Amino acid sequence: MLNIEKIRKDFPILNQKINGKDYVYLDNGATTQKPVQLIDAVADFYRNTNSNIHRGVHHLSNLSTKLYEGARAKVQKFINAEKESEIIFTKGTTDSINLIAFSFGEKYVSEGDEIIVSAMEHHSNLVPWQMLCERKKARLRILPFDKNGELELDKLPALINEKTKLLAVTHVSNSLGTVNPVKEIIETAHQSNVPVLIDGAQSIQHQKIDVQALDCDFFVFSGHKIYAETGIGVLYAKEKYLNEMPPYQGGGDMVDHVTLEKTTYLDAPFKFEAGTVNYVGAYGLGLAIDYINTVGIENIATHEQELLKYATEKLSVIEGLTIYGTAKHKTATISFLLKNIHHYDTGMILDKLGIAVRTGSHCTQPVMDFFEISGTVRASFAFYNTFADVDRLVEGILKVKQMFE
Ligand code: ALA
Repeated sequence: MLNIEKIRKDFPILNQKINGKDYVYLDNGATTQKPVQLIDAVADFYRNTNSNIHRGVHHLSNLSTKLYEGARAKVQKFINAEKESEIIFTKGTTDSINLIAFSFGEKYVSEGDEIIVSAMEHHSNLVPWQMLCERKKARLRILPFDKNGELELDKLPALINEKTKLLAVTHVSNSLGTVNPVKEIIETAHQSNVPVLIDGAQSIQHQKIDVQALDCDFFVFSGHKIYAETGIGVLYAKEKYLNEMPPYQGGGDMVDHVTLEKTTYLDAPFKFEAGTVNYVGAYGLGLAIDYINTVGIENIATHEQELLKYATEKLSVIEGLTIYGTAKHKTATISFLLKNIHHYDTGMILDKLGIAVRTGSHCTQPVMDFFEISGTVRASFAFYNTFADVDRLVEGILKVKQMFE
Protein backbone atom coordinates (compact mmCIF):
# COMPACT_ATOMS: atom_id res chain seq x y z
CA MET A 1 0.00 0.00 0.00
CA LEU A 2 1.29 3.45 -0.90
CA ASN A 3 1.08 6.33 1.50
CA ILE A 4 -0.22 8.71 -1.17
CA GLU A 5 -0.70 11.60 1.23
CA LYS A 6 2.97 11.43 2.19
CA ILE A 7 4.07 10.94 -1.42
CA ARG A 8 2.10 13.98 -2.58
CA LYS A 9 4.01 16.16 -0.12
CA ASP A 10 7.15 15.26 -2.11
CA PHE A 11 5.65 16.81 -5.28
CA PRO A 12 5.21 20.53 -4.51
CA ILE A 13 3.65 21.33 -7.87
CA LEU A 14 0.62 19.20 -7.03
CA ASN A 15 -0.11 21.16 -3.89
CA GLN A 16 -1.31 24.40 -5.43
CA LYS A 17 -4.48 25.94 -6.77
CA ILE A 18 -4.99 26.45 -10.49
CA ASN A 19 -7.87 28.67 -11.52
CA GLY A 20 -8.84 28.81 -7.85
CA LYS A 21 -9.23 25.03 -7.53
CA ASP A 22 -7.08 22.31 -6.00
CA TYR A 23 -4.88 21.14 -8.85
CA VAL A 24 -5.60 17.77 -10.45
CA TYR A 25 -2.74 16.82 -12.74
CA LEU A 26 -3.75 14.12 -15.22
CA ASP A 27 -1.23 14.77 -17.99
CA ASN A 28 1.47 12.40 -16.83
CA GLY A 29 1.74 10.82 -20.28
CA ALA A 30 3.10 14.15 -21.52
CA THR A 31 5.46 14.65 -18.59
CA THR A 32 5.64 13.70 -14.94
CA GLN A 33 6.21 15.95 -11.95
CA LYS A 34 9.44 15.99 -9.96
CA PRO A 35 9.98 15.04 -6.32
CA VAL A 36 11.42 17.68 -4.02
CA GLN A 37 14.36 15.36 -3.26
CA LEU A 38 15.41 15.68 -6.93
CA ILE A 39 14.69 19.41 -7.20
CA ASP A 40 16.78 20.13 -4.08
CA ALA A 41 19.64 17.81 -5.04
CA VAL A 42 19.91 19.31 -8.53
CA ALA A 43 19.93 22.85 -7.12
CA ASP A 44 22.58 21.71 -4.66
CA PHE A 45 24.60 20.20 -7.51
CA TYR A 46 24.71 23.59 -9.23
CA ARG A 47 25.53 25.30 -5.95
CA ASN A 48 28.34 23.00 -4.87
CA THR A 49 29.46 20.44 -7.42
CA ASN A 50 29.04 21.58 -11.02
CA SER A 51 32.00 20.88 -13.30
CA ASN A 52 32.28 19.28 -16.72
CA ILE A 53 32.68 15.50 -16.73
CA HIS A 54 35.49 13.29 -18.10
CA ARG A 55 37.70 16.33 -18.70
CA GLY A 56 39.26 17.67 -15.56
CA VAL A 57 41.84 16.52 -13.07
CA HIS A 58 40.36 18.84 -10.49
CA HIS A 59 38.22 17.78 -7.58
CA LEU A 60 34.78 18.86 -8.73
CA SER A 61 35.24 17.53 -12.25
CA ASN A 62 36.06 14.14 -10.76
CA LEU A 63 33.05 14.36 -8.48
CA SER A 64 30.72 15.31 -11.38
CA THR A 65 32.11 12.39 -13.39
CA LYS A 66 31.54 10.03 -10.50
CA LEU A 67 27.91 11.15 -10.13
CA TYR A 68 27.33 10.91 -13.89
CA GLU A 69 28.79 7.42 -14.17
CA GLY A 70 26.97 6.48 -10.97
CA ALA A 71 23.72 7.39 -12.71
CA ARG A 72 24.63 5.06 -15.58
CA ALA A 73 25.08 2.24 -13.08
CA LYS A 74 21.67 3.02 -11.54
CA VAL A 75 19.99 2.87 -14.96
CA GLN A 76 21.77 -0.39 -15.75
CA LYS A 77 20.46 -1.93 -12.55
CA PHE A 78 16.98 -0.44 -12.96
CA ILE A 79 16.41 -2.08 -16.36
CA ASN A 80 18.71 -5.05 -15.63
CA ALA A 81 21.09 -4.50 -18.53
CA GLU A 82 24.03 -6.85 -18.54
CA LYS A 83 26.66 -4.11 -18.73
CA GLU A 84 26.95 -0.43 -17.83
CA SER A 85 28.48 0.19 -21.26
CA GLU A 86 25.15 -0.79 -22.85
CA ILE A 87 23.56 2.37 -21.40
CA ILE A 88 23.91 5.47 -23.59
CA PHE A 89 22.66 8.81 -22.31
CA THR A 90 20.72 10.79 -24.91
CA LYS A 91 18.37 13.79 -24.91
CA GLY A 92 15.30 11.55 -24.68
CA THR A 93 13.30 8.87 -26.46
CA THR A 94 13.16 10.76 -29.75
CA ASP A 95 16.91 11.32 -29.71
CA SER A 96 17.54 7.65 -28.88
CA ILE A 97 15.38 6.45 -31.76
CA ASN A 98 16.96 8.90 -34.20
CA LEU A 99 20.39 7.69 -33.09
CA ILE A 100 19.45 4.08 -33.86
CA ALA A 101 17.71 4.98 -37.12
CA PHE A 102 20.86 6.74 -38.26
CA SER A 103 23.61 4.50 -36.89
CA PHE A 104 21.86 1.14 -37.32
CA GLY A 105 20.54 2.34 -40.67
CA GLU A 106 24.04 3.26 -41.88
CA LYS A 107 25.41 -0.11 -40.93
CA TYR A 108 22.66 -2.56 -41.76
CA VAL A 109 19.99 -1.06 -44.07
CA SER A 110 20.30 -0.97 -47.87
CA GLU A 111 18.03 -0.44 -50.84
CA GLY A 112 15.11 -2.87 -50.86
CA ASP A 113 15.41 -3.77 -47.15
CA GLU A 114 12.43 -3.54 -44.83
CA ILE A 115 11.69 -2.12 -41.38
CA ILE A 116 8.53 -2.99 -39.46
CA VAL A 117 6.68 -0.62 -37.13
CA SER A 118 3.16 -0.78 -35.74
CA ALA A 119 0.31 1.51 -36.72
CA MET A 120 0.03 2.79 -33.14
CA GLU A 121 3.50 4.31 -32.87
CA HIS A 122 4.11 7.77 -31.50
CA HIS A 123 5.44 9.92 -34.36
CA SER A 124 8.90 9.61 -32.79
CA ASN A 125 8.95 5.88 -33.54
CA LEU A 126 7.55 6.35 -37.04
CA VAL A 127 9.02 9.46 -38.66
CA PRO A 128 12.73 8.52 -38.11
CA TRP A 129 12.03 5.17 -39.84
CA GLN A 130 10.22 6.90 -42.71
CA MET A 131 13.25 9.19 -43.07
CA LEU A 132 15.63 6.21 -43.03
CA CYS A 133 13.55 4.38 -45.64
CA GLU A 134 13.57 7.45 -47.86
CA ARG A 135 17.34 7.83 -47.48
CA LYS A 136 18.08 4.19 -48.18
CA LYS A 137 15.20 3.41 -50.56
CA ALA A 138 14.00 0.84 -48.06
CA ARG A 139 10.39 -0.10 -47.32
CA LEU A 140 8.38 0.50 -44.15
CA ARG A 141 5.94 -2.30 -43.29
CA ILE A 142 3.09 -1.69 -40.86
CA LEU A 143 1.65 -4.03 -38.24
CA PRO A 144 -2.00 -2.99 -37.78
CA PHE A 145 -4.15 -2.83 -34.64
CA ASP A 146 -7.85 -3.51 -34.11
CA LYS A 147 -10.76 -1.41 -32.80
CA ASN A 148 -9.84 -2.20 -29.18
CA GLY A 149 -6.37 -0.85 -29.78
CA GLU A 150 -4.70 -4.28 -29.73
CA LEU A 151 -2.01 -5.22 -32.22
CA GLU A 152 -3.04 -7.84 -34.77
CA LEU A 153 -0.24 -10.20 -33.90
CA ASP A 154 -1.43 -12.93 -36.25
CA LYS A 155 -0.38 -10.61 -39.09
CA LEU A 156 3.20 -10.29 -37.88
CA PRO A 157 4.77 -13.49 -39.30
CA ALA A 158 3.64 -12.55 -42.83
CA LEU A 159 5.38 -9.16 -42.52
CA ILE A 160 8.76 -10.70 -41.66
CA ASN A 161 11.00 -11.94 -44.44
CA GLU A 162 14.69 -12.13 -45.33
CA LYS A 163 14.72 -8.40 -46.15
CA THR A 164 13.50 -7.37 -42.69
CA LYS A 165 16.27 -5.54 -40.86
CA LEU A 166 14.52 -4.29 -37.71
CA LEU A 167 11.18 -4.26 -35.93
CA ALA A 168 10.43 -1.14 -33.85
CA VAL A 169 7.37 -1.17 -31.60
CA THR A 170 6.04 0.74 -28.65
CA HIS A 171 5.72 -1.08 -25.35
CA VAL A 172 2.72 1.04 -24.35
CA SER A 173 0.61 3.21 -26.65
CA ASN A 174 0.73 6.82 -25.45
CA SER A 175 -2.70 7.62 -26.88
CA LEU A 176 -4.59 4.37 -26.15
CA GLY A 177 -2.79 3.00 -23.11
CA THR A 178 -2.44 -0.49 -24.65
CA VAL A 179 0.35 -2.59 -23.17
CA ASN A 180 1.68 -4.56 -26.11
CA PRO A 181 2.86 -8.18 -25.70
CA VAL A 182 6.43 -7.25 -26.52
CA LYS A 183 7.96 -10.48 -25.24
CA GLU A 184 5.91 -12.46 -27.74
CA ILE A 185 6.74 -9.96 -30.52
CA ILE A 186 10.46 -10.21 -29.74
CA GLU A 187 10.32 -14.02 -29.77
CA THR A 188 8.58 -14.02 -33.16
CA ALA A 189 11.08 -11.55 -34.65
CA HIS A 190 14.08 -13.39 -33.22
CA GLN A 191 12.96 -16.65 -34.83
CA SER A 192 13.90 -14.89 -38.10
CA ASN A 193 16.95 -13.15 -36.57
CA VAL A 194 15.27 -9.75 -36.75
CA PRO A 195 16.39 -7.38 -33.96
CA VAL A 196 13.73 -5.50 -32.01
CA LEU A 197 13.61 -1.96 -30.65
CA ILE A 198 11.16 -1.31 -27.82
CA ASP A 199 9.95 2.25 -27.26
CA GLY A 200 9.61 2.32 -23.50
CA ALA A 201 8.63 5.98 -23.16
CA GLN A 202 5.24 5.04 -21.72
CA SER A 203 6.13 1.80 -19.94
CA ILE A 204 9.29 2.50 -17.94
CA GLN A 205 7.36 4.52 -15.31
CA HIS A 206 4.57 1.97 -14.89
CA GLN A 207 6.10 -1.51 -14.65
CA LYS A 208 9.31 -3.39 -13.97
CA ILE A 209 11.53 -3.48 -17.05
CA ASP A 210 14.07 -6.24 -17.48
CA VAL A 211 15.81 -5.92 -20.83
CA GLN A 212 17.57 -9.26 -20.45
CA ALA A 213 14.34 -11.12 -19.68
CA LEU A 214 12.65 -9.36 -22.62
CA ASP A 215 15.71 -10.06 -24.76
CA CYS A 216 15.07 -6.83 -26.69
CA ASP A 217 17.96 -5.53 -28.76
CA PHE A 218 17.22 -1.86 -28.09
CA PHE A 219 15.14 -0.18 -25.37
CA VAL A 220 14.64 3.59 -25.19
CA PHE A 221 13.01 5.98 -22.74
CA SER A 222 12.97 9.60 -21.53
CA GLY A 223 13.91 10.89 -18.10
CA HIS A 224 11.08 13.39 -17.90
CA LYS A 225 8.46 10.62 -18.13
CA ILE A 226 9.94 8.97 -15.08
CA TYR A 227 9.99 11.93 -12.65
CA ALA A 228 13.41 13.20 -13.78
CA GLU A 229 14.29 16.29 -15.80
CA THR A 230 13.69 17.04 -19.46
CA GLY A 231 16.56 16.72 -21.92
CA ILE A 232 17.89 13.42 -20.62
CA GLY A 233 17.06 9.99 -21.96
CA VAL A 234 18.41 6.51 -22.36
CA LEU A 235 19.29 4.20 -25.17
CA TYR A 236 19.94 0.63 -24.11
CA ALA A 237 21.46 -1.55 -26.82
CA LYS A 238 23.03 -4.97 -26.80
CA GLU A 239 26.79 -4.64 -26.86
CA LYS A 240 27.23 -6.33 -30.23
CA TYR A 241 25.21 -3.57 -31.94
CA LEU A 242 27.02 -0.79 -30.11
CA ASN A 243 30.33 -2.26 -31.23
CA GLU A 244 29.27 -2.44 -34.86
CA MET A 245 27.20 0.73 -35.25
CA PRO A 246 29.04 3.89 -36.34
CA PRO A 247 28.74 6.99 -34.15
CA TYR A 248 25.75 9.24 -34.74
CA GLN A 249 27.55 12.51 -33.99
CA GLY A 250 31.20 13.49 -33.95
CA GLY A 251 32.83 15.82 -31.44
CA GLY A 252 34.59 15.99 -28.13
CA ASP A 253 34.60 13.19 -25.55
CA MET A 254 33.83 10.41 -28.07
CA VAL A 255 37.26 10.22 -29.67
CA ASP A 256 40.27 8.05 -29.02
CA HIS A 257 42.82 9.79 -31.24
CA VAL A 258 42.40 12.69 -33.63
CA THR A 259 44.69 13.87 -36.40
CA LEU A 260 43.83 16.30 -39.14
CA GLU A 261 43.37 13.32 -41.45
CA LYS A 262 41.61 10.71 -39.38
CA THR A 263 39.93 10.00 -36.05
CA THR A 264 39.52 6.83 -34.05
CA TYR A 265 36.69 6.51 -31.56
CA LEU A 266 36.29 5.36 -27.99
CA ASP A 267 34.20 2.26 -27.31
CA ALA A 268 30.57 2.47 -26.26
CA PRO A 269 29.04 4.16 -24.39
CA PHE A 270 31.36 7.15 -25.03
CA LYS A 271 31.37 6.66 -28.82
CA PHE A 272 27.72 7.73 -28.79
CA GLU A 273 28.00 10.61 -26.32
CA ALA A 274 29.65 13.42 -28.28
CA GLY A 275 30.01 16.86 -26.74
CA THR A 276 29.12 17.96 -23.24
CA VAL A 277 26.17 15.75 -22.42
CA ASN A 278 23.42 16.60 -19.99
CA TYR A 279 25.33 15.27 -17.02
CA VAL A 280 23.14 17.08 -14.52
CA GLY A 281 20.07 15.52 -16.13
CA ALA A 282 21.70 12.10 -15.87
CA TYR A 283 22.46 12.72 -12.20
CA GLY A 284 18.81 13.72 -11.71
CA LEU A 285 17.64 10.60 -13.53
CA GLY A 286 19.64 8.52 -11.07
CA LEU A 287 17.89 10.36 -8.22
CA ALA A 288 14.48 9.74 -9.77
CA ILE A 289 15.33 6.04 -9.99
CA ASP A 290 16.31 6.11 -6.31
CA TYR A 291 12.94 7.67 -5.53
CA ILE A 292 11.03 5.04 -7.54
CA ASN A 293 13.02 2.26 -5.92
CA THR A 294 12.06 3.61 -2.49
CA VAL A 295 8.36 3.66 -3.40
CA GLY A 296 8.61 0.35 -5.29
CA ILE A 297 7.71 -0.03 -8.95
CA GLU A 298 5.38 -2.96 -8.10
CA ASN A 299 3.50 -0.76 -5.60
CA ILE A 300 3.29 1.94 -8.26
CA ALA A 301 1.89 -0.54 -10.79
CA THR A 302 -0.70 -1.86 -8.34
CA HIS A 303 -1.96 1.58 -7.36
CA GLU A 304 -2.13 2.80 -10.95
CA GLN A 305 -4.05 -0.31 -12.03
CA GLU A 306 -6.59 0.37 -9.26
CA LEU A 307 -6.92 3.96 -10.49
CA LEU A 308 -7.41 2.68 -14.05
CA LYS A 309 -10.13 0.27 -12.97
CA TYR A 310 -11.95 2.90 -10.91
CA ALA A 311 -11.69 5.59 -13.60
CA THR A 312 -12.77 3.22 -16.39
CA GLU A 313 -15.83 2.15 -14.38
CA LYS A 314 -16.80 5.76 -13.59
CA LEU A 315 -16.23 7.11 -17.10
CA SER A 316 -17.89 4.17 -18.89
CA VAL A 317 -21.28 4.96 -17.39
CA ILE A 318 -21.28 8.61 -18.49
CA GLU A 319 -23.80 8.90 -21.29
CA GLY A 320 -22.29 10.00 -24.58
CA LEU A 321 -18.71 9.28 -23.51
CA THR A 322 -16.65 6.96 -25.73
CA ILE A 323 -13.36 5.51 -24.59
CA TYR A 324 -10.74 4.95 -27.29
CA GLY A 325 -8.43 2.10 -26.36
CA THR A 326 -10.17 -0.78 -24.62
CA ALA A 327 -7.38 -3.33 -24.70
CA LYS A 328 -7.26 -6.03 -22.05
CA HIS A 329 -3.88 -4.85 -20.80
CA LYS A 330 -3.57 -1.11 -20.31
CA THR A 331 -1.66 1.42 -18.29
CA ALA A 332 -3.67 4.07 -16.43
CA THR A 333 -4.34 6.13 -19.53
CA ILE A 334 -7.86 6.87 -20.75
CA SER A 335 -8.54 8.57 -24.06
CA PHE A 336 -12.11 9.64 -24.57
CA LEU A 337 -14.52 11.91 -26.40
CA LEU A 338 -17.87 13.37 -25.40
CA LYS A 339 -20.55 13.17 -28.07
CA ASN A 340 -20.74 16.37 -30.14
CA ILE A 341 -18.16 18.18 -27.98
CA HIS A 342 -14.73 19.01 -29.39
CA HIS A 343 -11.79 17.63 -27.40
CA TYR A 344 -10.30 21.15 -27.11
CA ASP A 345 -13.52 22.48 -25.56
CA THR A 346 -13.58 19.64 -23.05
CA GLY A 347 -9.92 20.20 -22.20
CA MET A 348 -10.31 23.94 -21.80
CA ILE A 349 -13.31 23.67 -19.51
CA LEU A 350 -11.58 21.02 -17.42
CA ASP A 351 -8.63 23.41 -17.13
CA LYS A 352 -10.94 26.12 -15.78
CA LEU A 353 -11.93 23.58 -13.15
CA GLY A 354 -8.27 23.03 -12.21
CA ILE A 355 -7.94 19.70 -14.04
CA ALA A 356 -5.06 19.20 -16.50
CA VAL A 357 -5.58 16.71 -19.32
CA ARG A 358 -4.06 16.52 -22.79
CA THR A 359 -6.16 17.07 -25.91
CA GLY A 360 -5.41 16.51 -29.60
CA SER A 361 -3.82 13.69 -31.54
CA HIS A 362 -1.09 13.02 -28.96
CA CYS A 363 1.54 12.75 -31.74
CA THR A 364 -0.25 9.69 -33.08
CA GLN A 365 -2.16 11.03 -36.09
CA PRO A 366 -2.41 7.57 -37.75
CA VAL A 367 -4.20 6.30 -34.62
CA MET A 368 -6.69 9.15 -34.89
CA ASP A 369 -7.13 8.41 -38.62
CA PHE A 370 -7.91 4.78 -37.77
CA PHE A 371 -10.76 5.87 -35.49
CA GLU A 372 -11.77 8.66 -37.93
CA ILE A 373 -11.46 11.36 -35.28
CA SER A 374 -9.27 14.45 -35.04
CA GLY A 375 -8.20 13.88 -31.46
CA THR A 376 -9.23 12.81 -28.00
CA VAL A 377 -9.13 14.01 -24.42
CA ARG A 378 -6.51 11.99 -22.58
CA ALA A 379 -6.32 11.52 -18.83
CA SER A 380 -3.04 9.84 -17.89
CA PHE A 381 -2.40 8.92 -14.28
CA ALA A 382 0.70 8.52 -12.12
CA PHE A 383 1.19 6.93 -8.72
CA TYR A 384 0.67 10.27 -6.94
CA ASN A 385 -2.87 10.52 -8.30
CA THR A 386 -5.79 9.61 -6.06
CA PHE A 387 -9.30 8.25 -6.34
CA ALA A 388 -10.43 11.78 -5.42
CA ASP A 389 -8.64 12.98 -8.60
CA VAL A 390 -10.78 10.54 -10.59
CA ASP A 391 -13.91 11.86 -8.87
CA ARG A 392 -12.90 15.45 -9.75
CA LEU A 393 -12.42 14.37 -13.39
CA VAL A 394 -15.86 12.76 -13.45
CA GLU A 395 -17.46 15.87 -11.90
CA GLY A 396 -15.62 18.01 -14.45
CA ILE A 397 -16.83 15.92 -17.38
CA LEU A 398 -20.42 16.13 -16.12
CA LYS A 399 -20.04 19.90 -15.90
CA VAL A 400 -18.73 20.04 -19.50
CA LYS A 401 -21.73 18.04 -20.66
CA GLN A 402 -24.11 20.29 -18.74
CA MET A 403 -22.62 23.40 -20.32
CA PHE A 404 -23.14 22.04 -23.81
CA GLU A 405 -26.64 20.73 -23.25
N1 ALA B 1 4.73 11.87 -25.95
C1 ALA B 1 4.11 12.69 -24.97
C2 ALA B 1 2.63 12.42 -24.84
O1 ALA B 1 2.18 11.36 -25.16
C3 ALA B 1 4.42 14.12 -25.15
O2 ALA B 1 1.91 13.29 -24.41
